[in-house]
Amino acid sequence: ILLISITTVLAYMLGSIPTAVWYGQGFFGVDIRKYGSGNAGATNTFRVLGKRAGTIVMLVDVLKGYTATVLSSLLWYADVITTNEILTFKIVFGLVAVVGHLYPVFADFKGGKGVASLLGMILATHPEMAVLCIGIFLLVVIASQYVSLGSIMAALAFPVLLLLRVFGEKESPLLIVFGFVIFLLVVITHQKNISRLLRGEENRTVLIRLRKK
Ligand code: G3P
Repeated sequence: ILLISITTVLAYMLGSIPTAVWYGQGFFGVDIRKYGSGNAGATNTFRVLGKRAGTIVMLVDVLKGYTATVLSSLLWYADVITTNEILTFKIVFGLVAVVGHLYPVFADFKGGKGVASLLGMILATHPEMAVLCIGIFLLVVIASQYVSLGSIMAALAFPVLLLLRVFGEKESPLLIVFGFVIFLLVVITHQKNISRLLRGEENRTVLIRLRKK
């Protein structure tokens, strides 16, 4: 129990690393949350601080979710959890890291929307699904120029693809339910984006360079 609790705190702290905030403050002297969409994520970093910054923030945020998820393997090596429990703990630690990303202890609990960290988690649990979801994300973003719409569609694709058993394996119903829970989480974190999309006022992917929100 002690080791599981320590790992959970570690996953939360990992997710809490506010990459976009620290990158903006460290390299540009700005708080990314005061610019563009106001979101402390890779998309807004890309939008406000440029491609290089956005790409680095995205990679680190994906890595946060991925690393938190694979912490479960350490517990397995230490004989704390069984082989059957690995997937459950991967999901638990991945989600804890996402919570850290949404509410980072290192940045006044104002973080991002969790998409990159969720991708990191899915890359660790279902790599082939993750690749398909990235494909769907890119298609939607290229066609619509809305990253938020791409994120929402990719999040919906994950449980739907699980349900359709695209890779043949029969997933447990619990995992499919969990997939829909992730989708719901993404919808919740994108509420403002959804209302902007409906009003036709959503930010496009274009660079706006340090324009105050
Ligand atoms: O991953 C976040 C993205 O879907 C939306 O970001 O900055 O346009 O609100 P943003």
